Formats: sequence, structure tokens, C-alpha cells
Amino acid sequence: MAEVVKVEYDPKGMPFRLLGSSGLRVPVFSLGGWLTLGGTVVGDPVKEIIKVAYENGINMFDTAEAYAKGKSEIEMGRVIKELGLRRTDLIVTTKIYWGLRSGPNDLGLSRKHIIEGTKECLERLQLSYVDVIFAHRPDSTVPMEEIVRAFSWVIDQGWAFYWATSEWSARDIEEAYSVAERYNLHKPIAEQCQHNMFHRERPEKEYAPIYKKYKIGTTVWSALASGLLTGKYNNGIPEGSRFDTNKDFFKNTLQSLTQEEGLAKIEKVKKLTALAENKLGCSPTHLALAWVAKNPNTSTVILGASKPEQVVDNLKALEVIPKLTDEIIEEIEAILGNKPEATPTFGRSALDKFGRL
Ligand SMILES: NC(=O)c1ccc[n+]([C@@H]2O[C@H](COP(=O)([O-])OP(=O)(O)OC[C@H]3O[C@@H](n4cnc5c(N)ncnc54)[C@H](OP(=O)(O)O)[C@@H]3O)[C@@H](O)[C@H]2O)c1
Repeated sequence: MAEVVKVEYDPKGMPFRLLGSSGLRVPVFSLGGWLTLGGTVVGDPVKEIIKVAYENGINMFDTAEAYAKGKSEIEMGRVIKELGLRRTDLIVTTKIYWGLRSGPNDLGLSRKHIIEGTKECLERLQLSYVDVIFAHRPDSTVPMEEIVRAFSWVIDQGWAFYWATSEWSARDIEEAYSVAERYNLHKPIAEQCQHNMFHRERPEKEYAPIYKKYKIGTTVWSALASGLLTGKYNNGIPEGSRFDTNKDFFKNTLQSLTQEEGLAKIEKVKKLTALAENKLGCSPTHLALAWVAKNPNTSTVILGASKPEQVVDNLKALEVIPKLTDEIIEEIEAILGNKPEATPTFGRSALDKFGRL
């Protein structure tokens, strides 16, 4: 059936970056569906969020088979159709690992689940391909050769253009690379990792050699630490917020917010807020998003939003990126006090804060 295109894509000034080592250009801010689209947000509001994102230059959408047990993909697919978005204008990514049934092969990265799972993702999304298929987690119970071959097969079928990893260790990514090189298979192009002002070791230190060797790029998740960095949790848990609507999932986080570690984070958010407002004329939300986007290893920051207004507000971070001078970054470091220790260079001049000369 011919595609019915109702809206022409206008980037509205959205900057684009290469997705890691690939030639694919992705918007600096994209939109994801974890917990929200198909979860706490269903029906028309999903359409409003995606429409507002698209009208403001976001043409990349991330989901996963596991999100809302497949409902996130169903909602996203429905909305893409209903809004009449042109497939070639879009970058759609999904992730494989946690399947929807409980059989022994419905979970993980066996060839069987990668292939059957991807097929089902495409059915739910009503698409014939996704742009990038992610391995949502590593699977140490499956030989790496089987994993890389299965993702390569998915690409060769035309079901995805690229494959990538999510929350894999640098060592696992290295292994996938060497297997792909040895057998002339498709290499992973990116890593979908958590990166925010409170979560830095893996993206800033562990992956440093991977960025350099393989030009892996990141599609960052939870840049706002699920909302903590907006300041909305400074004085308790607002009704209807993520920590309120997903109490079980965030049980440990909620507990920590009443203890020393969590309270120290809130204090830092308050200091970041003062810095953002007084020196940059922005909110802590914009500062936190711009800080992740400024990192040259970040290909895209995946926004999460439960309301269309949040998408519009978060995109103001684009104006803050150029304002993050070395002096401001130093002030942020002084507040955070959690900069990962540099790898020793034993007398050689050190690399810059992004691990570059
Ligand atoms: N690969 C992985 O393992 C993995 C894991 C997690 C996420 N992801 C991906 O990354 C995406 C983003 O992650 P995330 O949703 O955790 O990102 P996030 O930006 O840390 O959190 C998003 C949440 O913060 C709140 N928020 C956002 N903007 C706000 C604003 N301007 N003012 C006040 N509150 C605001 C909203 O929650 P409320 O309004 O409900 O409070 C929103 O749903 C996901 O959708 C998913 O695609 C991937």
C-alpha cells in the first residue's frame, strides 16, 4: 500500500550528528518511549507528544520490545501512520532482549530470539524495517559469534540498517567488534547507555578507549536521571510524576531520596539550579540536557516526556550548549564532585576532558 504523507519534515534548526562510526545522521535530541508512550501515556496524548516533537525537529524515535510489554511499539507505529510521517524522514530504533512471553527462548540474545523478536517488533510497529536495532543488554550465555551473526543476518534481510548495543561493557563491545572483523560481519555502530550528571563512570571512563578505537557514538538515556535533575523532586514526590506513578520500579531510588546519598543529590540539584538561573538564564533541566549533549561522544540524547510541553521545554537546551564554556564546566564539576578519575599517563601530557588530544 502506498505511503500517505500528511506532514513534510522541517528540521527547525535541529543540529544533526553522525551516529557513531556510521554515516547515519541523527538529531542531537531524539524521543523515547520508556515508561511513557504506551505505558503511563496512551491513545491521543501519545500522538500529541510525537506530533509536537516532530514539528520541533525531532525525527528520531526510540522504543523496545520490552517497553510496556510491546504497547510502546504498537502506539508508536499507530501514531506514525496516523500522523502520515514519511518513512525516509524518520529514524526509528527498537531494542531486543526482553521478549513478551516467558519461554526459555523469549529472553536474551540467542539467534532464535534476535530473529523472532525483531520480526515481532516490526509487526507491532507496522514497519518493514527499523533504522537501528539494539541489543538491549549483553547476554553472556550466548556465544558472541552467534549474536553478531544474528544481527548481521537481520541487517542482510533489510529488517534494520544497523545494529548497536545497550549497556554492554567495553570488553563485550570489543569482543563483538573483533568477531565482526574476523568473520566479515556487520559491526555495532553505537551504544545506548545511561549518561547524566549523576551517572558518569561507564560513559566517560570505561568507554573512552572504545570511542577512540571504533568511533562508537552514544544514544544517551535518562539524561535527566528520570526527572531528578529537573528539580521536581527537591521537595518530595509530586503526584503524577514518574517516581509516583512507578513506585515499585523506583523503590530503591525513592528510599535513597530520604537518605544521605539521595539528599546529597538534591543539594547538588539546588546548586545547579542557582548556577543555571544566575549564570545561564536557563533551568536545571536545560543545563543537564545541554551538558550531556555537549559531550562529543554523544550522538543523540533521547528525551523522555509524559507531556508535549516537556518536549518543547527540553529543546531549549539547544541554546544552552554553546554557553557551556570551560569555566562553566569547571563550576559544574565543583558542584558535582564526581568527575571520573583520569587514566594515568605516566608523565605524558594528558588528553582533554573528552579523552582527546
Ligand atoms: N537502553 C536502555 O536500557 C534504556 C533505559 C532507559 C531509557 N532508555 C531510552 O531513553 C529514553 C529517555 O530516558 P528517560 O525517559 O529515563 O529520560 P529522562 O529525561 O531522564 O526522564 C524523562 C522523564 O522526566 C520527566 N521530565 C522530562 N522533561 C521534563 C521537564 N521539562 N520538566 C519536568 N519533568 C520532566 C518526565 O517524567 P514525569 O513527567 O512522568 O515525571 C519524563 O518522562 C527512554 O524513553 C528510552 O527510549 C533506554
